[in-house]
Amino acid sequence: GETPRLLVVANRLPVSAKKTGENSWSLEMSPGGLVSGLLGVTAQFDTKWVGWPGVDVNDEAEKDALSQSLAKMKCIPVFLGEVFDQYYNGYCNGILWPILHHMGLPQEDPHDTNKTFQTQYDAYKKANRMFLDVIVQNYQEGDIVWCHDYHLMFLPKYLKEYNNKIKVGWFLHSPFPSSEVYKTLPSRSELLRSILTADLLGFHTYDFVKHFISTCTRILGVEGTHEGIVDQGRVTRVAVFPIGIDPDRFIRTCKLPEATQQINELKEKFSGKKVILGVDRLDTIKGIPQKYLAFEKFLEENPNWRDKVVLVQIAVPTRNDVPEYRKLKKQVHGLVGRINGRFGSVSSLPIHHLDCSVDFTYLCALYATADVMLVTSLRDGMNLVSYEFVACQEAKKGVLVLSEFAGAGQSLGAGALLVNPWDVTEVSSAIEEALTMPAEEREKRHRANFQYVNIHSAKKWGDDFMSVLNDNISESEMQL
Ligand code: UDP
Ligand code: G6P
Repeated sequence: GETPRLLVVANRLPVSAKKTGENSWSLEMSPGGLVSGLLGVTAQFDTKWVGWPGVDVNDEAEKDALSQSLAKMKCIPVFLGEVFDQYYNGYCNGILWPILHHMGLPQEDPHDTNKTFQTQYDAYKKANRMFLDVIVQNYQEGDIVWCHDYHLMFLPKYLKEYNNKIKVGWFLHSPFPSSEVYKTLPSRSELLRSILTADLLGFHTYDFVKHFISTCTRILGVEGTHEGIVDQGRVTRVAVFPIGIDPDRFIRTCKLPEATQQINELKEKFSGKKVILGVDRLDTIKGIPQKYLAFEKFLEENPNWRDKVVLVQIAVPTRNDVPEYRKLKKQVHGLVGRINGRFGSVSSLPIHHLDCSVDFTYLCALYATADVMLVTSLRDGMNLVSYEFVACQEAKKGVLVLSEFAGAGQSLGAGALLVNPWDVTEVSSAIEEALTMPAEEREKRHRANFQYVNIHSAKKWGDDFMSVLNDNISESEMQL
């Protein structure tokens, strides 16, 4: 038969636009794990993407020009106009994101009327309606709609109100919090009821599913069963689908001449030193200050290592208009200055902190060069960076130091050194253990992780979710 059409809806399109001239745009791959994961989901479906193009466009001719460029990438833009700020910087990343990651709600200022929870919540609903409108314009009978992430919690409800027959899936790329934390959200019930209108809800880990189910039972009084949530006879299926990467893309790239040359240059630059690597969006959930404090302690306590190790941290700029992110940047820069000032010399600095993104080949070269990868997320949906490092370490077999609070802690735990990122002493010891680990043990640990990363690919994730959504297989038949 015909390949079914799939509409993938996420706030972030896989490409973000940059204006290069009048009515002309360049498209760049968007950062973040959601986009990397979803790139693996195109094989068996005729996929179209619906999402925000990464820029604010007001002029109609410009919108048309951009829509045409995006159409070549199978992307359909949602232009959010004036609701964008209150929706994205306000409700999504100022309120929902911290709640989902156990960081607590910010203090509301009821007198700053543009920024009250209620105004931002209204903007959020409005934005979700704008996504609906674009879907409706592009919907063909039989299309499956897969909604992604915390930006679009109202969309399942709006879709079902528009047409109850549309098959709707929703996937959360972040953690789901404990009910005690979730309860603090003023609009807690309405948001839950809305996602429960979907046919299938997916989460990265079993713990997130457990939190979600107990939150629904406690707040809404509905029943949680092995199938999902049952409310007045209607079942919303809820299941675990751990996302992955496209490992071959990384393995292939590491072997390209361009990457090989970059790897050689990096080796030369850092010769005689071990390289610890960090790659994170500069987000409060990534525990970057904690990482620096642990590295500082390590240098304090191990003078012999001071001129033999560097920490290269790629701090990808993100959500710059959210106050918390700006504060974080200042804090982190302060720490880097202090640590480099204490332990640096004229010819070398212990921390190379870069406020930028890097292109894909160079990223692979960095992953391949590193001796140790340091992931200290305080809470993280999955953390694909840790998977990507593993995929690029076939030659080197370096050590992954990984926070137990990242989803990946549950999948790569066998091969990684798991740490509690809040425990600076523990992380500092793990750095030492990683730097001095015998080759045989490194190989054994790498093999376990490499195998996992290869099997649990993004493609498998997408296939599994779509199979369950299409009733091809039940969750219990699936090998999770
Ligand atoms: N990444 C990127 N640009 C960079 C560095 C990294 O796009 O300069 C990618 C990285 O390859 C990974 C994603 O950003 O696929 C980060 O995903 P992760 O799940 O680790 O965290 P998230 O950013 O989604 O919180
Ligand atoms: C996380 C979220 C994604 C988001 C990404 C990048 O992975 O789960 O939904 O796309 O971060 O953040 P941004 O706000 O730039 O889209």
